[in-house]
Amino acid sequence: MSHILLIVGGGIAAYKSCELIRLMRKAGHSVRCVLTEGGNHFVTPMTLAALSENQVFTTLWDLKDEAEMGHIQLSREADLVVVAPGTADLMARMANGHADDLATTLLLATDTPVLVAPAMNVRMWLHPATQRNVAQLRADGVEVMAPDEGVMACGEFGPGRLPEPPAILAAIEAKLTPAHRPLAGRHVLVTAGPTHEPIDPVRYIANRSSGRQGFAVAGALAALGARVTLVAGPVSLPTPPGVDRVNVETARDMAQAVAQALPADAAVMVAAVADWRVEAAGQKVKKDGAAAPALTLVENPDILATVAAAPDRPALVVGFAAETEHVIDHAVAKRLRKRADWIVANDVSGDVFGGDANHVHLVTADGVESWERMGKDAVARGLAQRIADALQARS
Ligand code: CTP
Repeated sequence: MSHILLIVGGGIAAYKSCELIRLMRKAGHSVRCVLTEGGNHFVTPMTLAALSENQVFTTLWDLKDEAEMGHIQLSREADLVVVAPGTADLMARMANGHADDLATTLLLATDTPVLVAPAMNVRMWLHPATQRNVAQLRADGVEVMAPDEGVMACGEFGPGRLPEPPAILAAIEAKLTPAHRPLAGRHVLVTAGPTHEPIDPVRYIANRSSGRQGFAVAGALAALGARVTLVAGPVSLPTPPGVDRVNVETARDMAQAVAQALPADAAVMVAAVADWRVEAAGQKVKKDGAAAPALTLVENPDILATVAAAPDRPALVVGFAAETEHVIDHAVAKRLRKRADWIVANDVSGDVFGGDANHVHLVTADGVESWERMGKDAVARGLAQRIADALQARS
């Protein structure tokens, strides 16, 4: 039995949520309902309470409920959050991170998987704004079902109808099965972002890493059920859902945080770690008329090589290699030198740093696989799936 939190949005299709509750209950799941203000115009809390045999929640501002159960707790204790019907407005607010009612607050505060069954007028579904919001939600790891096509309550024809309740139940069951969470019970360590190496208390040496690829990898691993520790250099990216983040500044901080996060089943080192630090970063360097100061650099610890040689080495150690020439040759050599299992090599001579897309080559003991150029999220999902497959094969 699973615990499902059903959020009923404000659309004519809300009446079908009653049938959905009945099906979920019949399949053995416990259901709690949250009804939005709009939803309240189509079905009553009494109906949902009777069908779910549970209290129905409608407002953020119910002090009695807050005393009994924090509203955040509501979504956290669920195995799955289902939004049905997901209206255009509710999806827009979800995509933009609003938290102005109980439903959106729960959705923003949860790291539980979310499934949306959309329902709206065909023009609203096809509108670029809705399509943009759907794409954003999917990139954020929310599963948005495709709406059904057909005659709509408003008399128009096309995509936008709520998927039939049995189809929603099938999507719910698929989301709850372990096949979708092949990394459940695994711990994966990810490093991401640049490091900052102080020259003095006000200046530092940095690099152009945006952290986006590493954050996407952490999010994709968490979406497959892994417990993810993300050791992140200084970037202002949001933490992906379900990821434990440790912020660090320097390569030495990162090495320490990584050592503390072990043991792990896999480690994916995406960070662009500074190879050198300034030897003595003491007081602020003054421009006192003398010659420009010389910086003495000393080598930083190689975190990837250290993890790969550690007594509690993760079963799978993956490094990234940012190269500007001879991409594959350097990556092949780097894999052996650092004793990594895989190296994901990318050519950073173009607009990879800070950009959305990446063109990578996966270098393993078996050879080199060149992936087509794709978004960093797609690279992350592909890599996370490969990691899941590899860990499964090794266990
Ligand atoms: N790496 C690391 N610690 C370092 C330097 C690099 O963990 N001090 C990791 C990176 O996270 C990445 C891999 O090593 O997974 C390769 O990083 P890269 O900078 O390409 O390799 P370098 O060892 O710095 O080699 P070079 O700069 O000579 O190409």
